[in-house]
Amino acid sequence: MLKQIDSDIWVAEQPLKYLGINVGTRMTVIRSNSDQLSIISPIQINDAIKKQLETIGVVTNIIAPNLFHYLFASDCKNLFPYATFWADLDLKKKKPDLPIDKTFDYQGGNLNDHLKYMFFDGFKTITLNGFSRLNEFIFYHPTSRTLILTDIAFNFDKSFSFSTKLVSRLIGGYNNLSPSLLEKIATTNKNKIKSILHEILDWDFDRVIMAHGSIIESNGKEKLIKGFENF
Ligand SMILES: [Fe+2]
Repeated sequence: MLKQIDSDIWVAEQPLKYLGINVGTRMTVIRSNSDQLSIISPIQINDAIKKQLETIGVVTNIIAPNLFHYLFASDCKNLFPYATFWADLDLKKKKPDLPIDKTFDYQGGNLNDHLKYMFFDGFKTITLNGFSRLNEFIFYHPTSRTLILTDIAFNFDKSFSFSTKLVSRLIGGYNNLSPSLLEKIATTNKNKIKSILHEILDWDFDRVIMAHGSIIESNGKEKLIKGFENF
């Protein structure tokens, strides 16, 4: 079900396992101009969520924010065929069958009057297939002072399963808005990350939503600085 967290922001979550660990996943819905909805990182949209979305507005943008969070985007586009499906240019190359309509500008910019985005260049992770670029676009909703991340940082806490707590305690992202050791090892150009963080910190945000972990409702900027301190 959609859960409203501010006047024009909703989230919905579903269980998801990654490398055998329950990490869950979350989509974020932002409403602009009173009825236009942008869905970042869609989850499987069931009838109940579809009805809720139709009650709060018109789905206008469907966003795959990085090279991994696209699994339910095609289904979402089938449900809302008039929405624009946004993704990274490299996702279009990686998955040519996806019904992508527009690709993001690597310079960043405004998706609309109420949603800004930036490319988190240089950030990588380790997958079963080796080192991999994430090519993540991160989002900022000034009206609610919210930063929306996907895989750039995690924040698992006591609400997660024993194994998730154990693993995130060991490799990072437990009670801490931070990437894990996998990203720390895979990301080689740390200076690039520092300069992007610098730009992000210019945005006036307090809340941070991420795809995996518990939402940070306040002091998100301080927590992001702390989480990347030893990156
Ligand atoms: Fe993810």
